[in-house]
Formats: sequence, C-alpha cells, structure tokens
Amino acid sequence: MADFDIVIIGSGPAGYVGAIHAAQRGLKTACVVVENELGGTCLNVGCIPSKALLHASEVLAAFKEEGKEWGLSQPNVEIDFPTMIKRKDEIVKKLTTGIGYLFKKNKIETLSGFGTFIDKETLQVGDRKVTAKNFIIATGSTPTPLPGLNFDGSKVISSTEALSLPNLPKKLLVVGAGVIGLELGSFYSRLGVEIEVIEFLNRITPEYDDDISSVFMRILEKQGLKFNLNSKVISGSVKADGVILQVETKEGIKEFSGDHALVSIGRKPFTDGLGLEKAGVRVSNQGFVEVDGIFKTSNSNIYAVGDVIGGAMLAHKGSHEATVAIDHILGKKSTMKYGAVPGVIYTSPEVASVGASEKDLKAKGVDYKVVKFPLAANSRYVAIGGKDPCFVKYLVCKKTKRLFGASMIAPHAGELIGEPTLAISQNLTLDALAHTIHAHPTFLEALHEAAMGSIFDFYHL
Ligand code: FAD
Ligand code: NAI
Repeated sequence: MADFDIVIIGSGPAGYVGAIHAAQRGLKTACVVVENELGGTCLNVGCIPSKALLHASEVLAAFKEEGKEWGLSQPNVEIDFPTMIKRKDEIVKKLTTGIGYLFKKNKIETLSGFGTFIDKETLQVGDRKVTAKNFIIATGSTPTPLPGLNFDGSKVISSTEALSLPNLPKKLLVVGAGVIGLELGSFYSRLGVEIEVIEFLNRITPEYDDDISSVFMRILEKQGLKFNLNSKVISGSVKADGVILQVETKEGIKEFSGDHALVSIGRKPFTDGLGLEKAGVRVSNQGFVEVDGIFKTSNSNIYAVGDVIGGAMLAHKGSHEATVAIDHILGKKSTMKYGAVPGVIYTSPEVASVGASEKDLKAKGVDYKVVKFPLAANSRYVAIGGKDPCFVKYLVCKKTKRLFGASMIAPHAGELIGEPTLAISQNLTLDALAHTIHAHPTFLEALHEAAMGSIFDFYHL
C-alpha cells in the first residue's frame, strides 16, 4: 500500500494550494518542503517581498512628488533602507508561518528536504523513501542567467538578491524590461537609485499591446528610468566596486557600469536533481515538464503544475492548475480557462491585462473592436490628482459583443482587472458590464464608461 494518496513536491503557490485542496477533500497528503522555502518563490523571494517593498517606495514617491500640492510638507523624509528590508522580511515570515499553520490544521505531512525520484513509484526525501498513489511536481522555476555572465549573488544578481541588498546602490543596471526589471527598477528608482534598463527588443513588456507598452515606457521615463532598447549585452566583467557591461546597440558597442547588474531576462523550469528520467517523466526542449490537458505527465501517476510546466509564470495560474489536477485525481471534472488568467505589473500606475491581445486576434483573423476610456475623464482619478495618460481598453467581438480581452494602465489596475476577468471567464457581453451599477467615484467607473460607450456605438452607429 502507498504511504500517501498524494505527495506534492514543492511548496510554492502551486504546491501549497494543491496540498490544502487535496487534504480538505479527504486525501492523505504530504508536501516536500526544502528548509526555509515554505511558500516557494512567491512568498519568499517573489510576489510578496516585491510588493512589500514596492508599497513602501510608492508611499515615499507620492509624498515627495505630490506632498506639497496636497498640503503635506515634510522637507526631510529619510530613507531607512535596512528597516524597509526588515519590514519586508517580517511580512514574509508572517505569511509563511500562516501556511505552516494551514498545513497543521489540514493534517498535511511536511516531508522536509529535497525530493528525488529513484524509480517510477518512489521519491527519496532525505533518508526517507516515500510512495504515493499520485505525485504532483510543483518545483517551480529559477532565474535565467545571461549567457557568459553567471550570477555571482553580489554584483551580477537576480531578483532574489535584489530583494535583500545590504545597502542602497547608487546605480543599478537592469537587463530585461519585463515584469521583474520594471517592478524592481521602479522600486529602486523611487529610492533615488539611477536605473539604466537594457532590453534587446525594440519595446518594453513585449507581451502587452503596443499602445500600453509605449504609454507605460513614457510614464516610467518621466519617473526617471532610462531605457536602452534594441540593446544586447555581449559581455560583462565584475570589478571590486561594481560591474561593467558591454552592450551592442544600434549606435555601436556601448559600455554601461553600475554597482550591480540585475539580470531579469526570464525564468527557467526547476527540475535539477528531481530524477525525472528515473520517474519516466518527459520534458520539452526548453526543459519544461510535459503535461496533457489534465496535467498528467508521461508517467500516468505523476502530475505537474505551476511554473515547471511553462506558460504564464504566475502564482494564481499555478495554484489553479493544482486544484484542477487534484479534482481530476478525485474523478471530478474541472477545467483551466487560460483565456481568463490575468497578469499584473505592480508599478505605479499598475498595468494589467487578461484574455486576448490585439496581436493574438490579428493572428487569428478575428473581427474585433477596440474600446478605450481615458482615466483623465474619471472623477476618482482627477480627485487623486492623477496626471499620467492612463487608460483602460476592451477588445470586443463585433458580432456578439463578448469580451475577447482587456488591458489597462491605471491606479489599482491589478484590482480592476478582476471585472473583465470575470466577464471573460463567464462569457459575459459588454451589455452585462454596462448594465451593472458601479459605485461612484471609483476607478472601476472607467471600465463601466468603456462598456457604456461601446454599447452606444453598437446601437447607434
Ligand atoms: P515556486 O513558487 O517556484 O515553488 C517551487 C518550490 O519548490 C521552490 O521553493 C523550490 O525551491 C522547490 N523545489 C524545487 N525542486 C524541489 C525538489 N526536488 N524537492 C523539493 N522542493 C523543490 N507571480 C504573480 O502571480 N504575481 C506577482 O506579483 C509575482 N511577482 C513575482 C516577483 C518576483 C521577483 C518573482 C521572481 C516572481 C514573481 N511572480 C509573481 C511569479 C511567481 O512567484 C511564480 O509564478 C510562482 O511562485 C510559481 O509557483 P510554483 O508553485 O509553480 O513554484
Ligand atoms: P519577462 O519574461 O517578464 O521579461 C524578460 C525581458 O527580458 C523581456 O522583455 C525580454 O525581451 C528581455 N530579454 C530577454 N533576453 C534578454 C537579453 N539577453 N538582453 C536583454 N533583454 C533580454 O521575465 P522576468 O522579468 O525575468 O520575469 C520572469 C517571470 O516572473 C515572468 O514570466 C513573470 O510572469 C514572473 N513575474 C511576475 C510578476 C507579476 O505578476 N507581477 C512580477 C515578477 C515576475
């Protein structure tokens, strides 16, 4: 008889949410947890610590930039960087302790250590050999290094070190203008650090529509971030006091120096030491664990979810995949709606999207309509003194008025995106959104206006 019904390897948002879901449905569940990693990347070195730091710096920036105008005057706001980092660590501790509590409450056994398959049915964790009716691999991802310039944890750093620097640097080179580069670049920029972003494409945030990316870049430039697009790092050298990068640009080779280089060019699946070959689990050419529609791997007793299977590397996507996989193990039908997975960039203003982009729709030859509404015409935005060219945008089916996608650059976009996510997930039309009463004054009214305006167009043009 197997030791457990389910053993989940990894305790990030895919692993710990899956473990709780399984245990609450009566399955004898264990979770393999590396020391000090309960909560995985998300809680320890990802979503939570980055948002804790971003919040502190956002308050500072608002106070410094708008304070006088608001009638708040304090000429000498001091930055106590070690306290900021300490507060972030305390928040992480509070939340990881909470997961430990939930594990106990739900009688989930913690198997402490690193899990390695030794054959198709057995996982070794420390000295213990464990069997289970089903295993779920939720081992996440790690930062991708720059070819030829490995992470050294001090000068050439990943997001992990950038969240816990011992001192505030003077200048930070950020390689990659994606989500991590722009969130952490914004954080340090607000604390007065000079930020030089090096991105090899001709735009930032490539997965967003062009109009969002270009407005976003203008806003970040106004905040002080410097961008070098079409720029490729060709080599780098580490010195005692910093790092120098040689970068190929349209104008020729340029040299950039800084205290650190934050390399944020994507993340790769974490499968090292997992013994996938012995378990008979296949991986793709990029190293992601291959799964079918219900997250089963090439070994029918082993499932995989979260960052390790690829797709959008987002906490909520991994968590939901885990619950869907467990529902299938329990014989219940459950599906993953990838068209309704929101993504958010927690800069100021925030940027968010859900569903199809214009590029997706054009590639499919779909007939769609673009509806935009500027935040400048939203009373709440005016009330907070918003000055950026923020807007919300819907992509709507011309025939059915169903929502294909939404994207926005707006204060609290990470909260606002919930409305179009629900609409897409439940196949709602713009009528449903237009006929829903929204509180006043709220940023949500911008989405309501977009829906109303669009309906007006549909009916009257
Ligand atoms: P992980 O969270 O990576 O957890 C996997 C765990 O398994 C890790 O602790 C790993 O060490 C462990 N593990 C690996 N191999 C083994 C083994 N053999 N045995 C035992 N344990 C093992 N996403 C969002 O949705 N919102 C955000 O705001 C956000 N911010 C982010 C900010 C940063 C700086 C970073 C780096 C990421 C951020 N992400 C965010 C992405 C998010 O953190 C990941 O998508 C999410 O953590 C993936 O969850 P997971 O459970 O698949 O893997
Ligand atoms: P990313 O995929 O978001 O962005 C990487 C950027 O680096 C791209 O713009 C790409 O063109 C560029 N790039 C790639 N190779 C390069 C090179 N050699 N030189 C210069 N530029 C190069 O990856 P990032 O920012 O590292 O984030 C990793 C993952 O973490 C993302 O997939 C994201 O989903 C997740 N994450 C999510 C957050 C959120 O939801 N708010 C926050 C932070 C991370």
